[in-house]
Amino acid sequence: MAKRRIGILTGGGDCPGLNAVIRGVTKTAINRYGMEVIGFQDGFEGLIENRFKFLTFEEVSGILTQGGTILGSSNKANPFAHIVIENGKKVVKDVSDETMQLYEDLDLEALICVGGDGTMTIAGMLAEKGANVVGVPKTIDKDLEETDTTFGFDTARLVATEAIDRLHTTAQSHHRVMVVEVMGRNAGWLALESGIAGGGDIILIPEIPYQIEEIFRVVRQRGRFGKRFSIIVVAEGAKPEGGEQVINKIVEDSPEQIRLGGISHIIADQIERETGIESRVAILGHLQRGGTPTPLDRILATRFAVKAMELVEQKKFNEMVAIKGNEIVSVPIKNVMGRQKLVPLDCPLIDAGLSVGTNFGIKM
Ligand code: F6P
Repeated sequence: MAKRRIGILTGGGDCPGLNAVIRGVTKTAINRYGMEVIGFQDGFEGLIENRFKFLTFEEVSGILTQGGTILGSSNKANPFAHIVIENGKKVVKDVSDETMQLYEDLDLEALICVGGDGTMTIAGMLAEKGANVVGVPKTIDKDLEETDTTFGFDTARLVATEAIDRLHTTAQSHHRVMVVEVMGRNAGWLALESGIAGGGDIILIPEIPYQIEEIFRVVRQRGRFGKRFSIIVVAEGAKPEGGEQVINKIVEDSPEQIRLGGISHIIADQIERETGIESRVAILGHLQRGGTPTPLDRILATRFAVKAMELVEQKKFNEMVAIKGNEIVSVPIKNVMGRQKLVPLDCPLIDAGLSVGTNFGIKM
């Protein structure tokens, strides 16, 4: 009898903990269920182009602590909108039927898709075409619906918090305003949580459009109380009231084309011009996505992996694993597709920030 076989891929932007999932899935599949595992390379690109490798104990040994993904990832590949060059021109093609054929030919019992909202949306569409899909949520943005958190977030929050701590001392020495820009796309989770952990004086998130006058007021007021420096933590997606987000780059081949970034420069320039206080910028960028995952992310990634394999064994497909409270559960992938979890205005952390005097760029 042929050996039972599953496939796994990591899609979208990488984050710490992906390798912990690959290891968790592979070891559980082999140890518990006697299955073999193939890993598609570069996300859905590997599935489209039939590029994969067999994942053995040796392949996944020692990767628990490594950042990135040993399989590679792509935030452009999509079987429903695959870009090919024909006669020197880019043409977008739906190759999902061919992809499904490959999935059938490989005799996969299931396909585990590790990714964010973009990956879950494609996974859900493949499920509609008949693939047995299980989703595992990752992103440093923590913006996936139906799960309290995602692995990768804790590590990014630690990197951002450490950066804010370091910037504090230099801001203090030079009596400067430091504007720290963190990632997160349209969600303010990373800015909010690292800002609270790092004691940011002002935290600006996309969900609360700011008034620049209020920022001037806070910086000046701190000066009057003898605090000649200020730390402003700004999410890359933050915007002024009545204004727009700052776009850093358009990635044409990507399903999600907009890359945000640069708002910190605008804010720092405005503060320096208006208040005369020297202002500097630190954009943390991809530093937040690299390096070894925290213990919390390793544990979450491992628990997600084990649960994903449990779902495969139970033939409970087209579900995404999730964490609710401290329980690992699963939810239908279709509940997650095309949605983003933003910071609600009644978030207890905003209230906690207000209690300790944090300003959110408007009077609240
Ligand atoms: O979704 C994760 C994320 O790091 C966002 O926080 C950020 O906006 C985006 O990806 C950056 O994408 P790229 O790696 O394509 O620059």
